[in-house]
Amino acid sequence: MTATPASSALAAPTPRAWATAQRPEACRLELLLDQAHLEKKAAAGAVTFLFRVPYEPRWQRGLSALAREELVHFERTLKLLERRDRGFARQQQSGYAAGLKQGIASDMPGRLVDELLVAALIEARSCERMDLLAQELGDVDRELADFYADLVAAEARHEQLYREIAAELAGAEVAAARWSELAAHEARVIAALPFAPRLHSGPAANELTPEEVTDGR
Ligand SMILES: [Fe+2]
Ligand SMILES: [Fe+2]
Repeated sequence: MTATPASSALAAPTPRAWATAQRPEACRLELLLDQAHLEKKAAAGAVTFLFRVPYEPRWQRGLSALAREELVHFERTLKLLERRDRGFARQQQSGYAAGLKQGIASDMPGRLVDELLVAALIEARSCERMDLLAQELGDVDRELADFYADLVAAEARHEQLYREIAAELAGAEVAAARWSELAAHEARVIAALPFAPRLHSGPAANELTPEEVTDGR
């Protein structure tokens, strides 16, 4: 298995079974739609940070480039969806981002540092899972596997940028301690989510039964 720079920083790795359970065509289509939403949100998040972090040319350039890169990913995902006759549509919230927010300090300046670290954690988890999907889907969907493999390096860079800004704002030691706490929180959040064809869903063992799906759980 290829190790990515980001996956080593997570508190709990994703089991390969999660990616194996995403092999059916219906899952791959939903994952692509999810990807489009995630890329768009990632671009918006980066633009928001441009206005929130103190003015520092390196950060401004880095965040601007990051936002542009996420929009390029968004457009690439839309093209793939179009080729598969799957239109862009709303999707139910996965619960991941909302769960992560609960771990964020409510007061400044800790809040901004936490938000940057949570953005880095989302990048890290996305990177780890895209790498898993790239490895798992090659024999059923070469195009999708290559697409994920292409994005992995960019998402790892995004994680690094958010972590660097957080470390410069809070100091390396404080940021590292906070990273450990938030990474542990992230691992608990994602382990408790139901399994779904979403990049940030829970483990395959949490798959809902058909009855639970019908109940709208
Ligand atoms: Fe992206
Ligand atoms: Fe990203």
